[in-house]
Amino acid sequence: MESVAELTTPVVLLDRGKTENNIRAMQAACDAEGVKLWPHIKTHKMVEVARRQLAAGAEGLTCAKLGEAEAMLPSGVKRIFIAHSLVDAREASRIAALADQLEELRVAATSPAQAEALAKVAAAAKRPLKVMLAVDSGLGREGVRCAADAQKIAAVIEASPYLELAGFYTHEGQLYAADPAEQQAKVDEVIDRVAAVRDAVNPKLPLWPGCSVTAKLMAATGRVQVVRPGAYMFGDIALAVTSRVMPISDVAIHVLATVVDRPEPGLALIDAGSKVFSSDKSPQGVHAMAVDGRDIQVVRVNEEHGYVRGKEVDALRIGDRLKLMVAHVCPVINLTDRVVVTEGDQVVDRWTVDARGRVQ
Ligand SMILES: Cc1ncc(COP(=O)(O)O)c(C=O)c1O
Repeated sequence: MESVAELTTPVVLLDRGKTENNIRAMQAACDAEGVKLWPHIKTHKMVEVARRQLAAGAEGLTCAKLGEAEAMLPSGVKRIFIAHSLVDAREASRIAALADQLEELRVAATSPAQAEALAKVAAAAKRPLKVMLAVDSGLGREGVRCAADAQKIAAVIEASPYLELAGFYTHEGQLYAADPAEQQAKVDEVIDRVAAVRDAVNPKLPLWPGCSVTAKLMAATGRVQVVRPGAYMFGDIALAVTSRVMPISDVAIHVLATVVDRPEPGLALIDAGSKVFSSDKSPQGVHAMAVDGRDIQVVRVNEEHGYVRGKEVDALRIGDRLKLMVAHVCPVINLTDRVVVTEGDQVVDRWTVDARGRVQ
């Protein structure tokens, strides 16, 4: 059997056992509270991971783009929520085809103006669509800013023969920056805000908040019906170091890179740059850090080079290999065709990133 030591670099490693444990742990947390899980596939983009999430008990999948949803169909998924602002009637035939292959297709209404466009898209697609109404809970991206706009959207939906208002959602991504000690209070604020908008329209409709930072806290409030975390089964610096919602030892995705030069004291260059890590940095200012506890970080990237600094960098030799935890896992997966699946030091499989680059 092939071992990790035989791999050439740079390469993205997926620890199968940790991934499956993280999937099971999130599902168990939701099951314990009677909350449904609709994981967002934008992080993993892999049928192999979606299959495992569904087998563990996920009720549906959340996607950003139609192309992501189409790529996930081989997983056997029956329910998909497209959590993005659909506005283009040129996409009607794709929406119809998707709806025909699913038991349930949910779409998002994100403002009164977008809802008008969505009604036209639905009329062109000629398919019944459940609509989740987006509420901005502090990120300042999509979603109504006031109850009056939610009522306007509800009226547009009511007037459409194809649309049915089925619930409210929010993406509280701003909580990635919250102090871990304040997360519970911030979660309560988010729910209060979304529930107030919901109650002004129809108090009976469900609430669907919940990203990887908040999902377990949200589920435990007893006030939400669905959560949609994305990055939880892999983890990264954002989740394990900044928000501390998982231990570093549970992080399941790593970049394996090789030291290719030592141009000056205090600096090592590795063979992975922005085409592997993306340009995203953690709030600590690093693109990646060693997972073995050594003081070694990737502090700057060019396309094919990573600049490695830290107290222990001078011990590195050309040819040394570094196993690195990345700042933000989502773009790292989107930059690779496939991941190498490992168990301990053994390579056990390779999984295709099926929805890689599916931005349409
Ligand atoms: C609409 C929406 N839902 C869910 C998520 C999942 O968030 P996370 O990857 O932080 O769990 C995201 C992430 O960007 C999102 O934009």
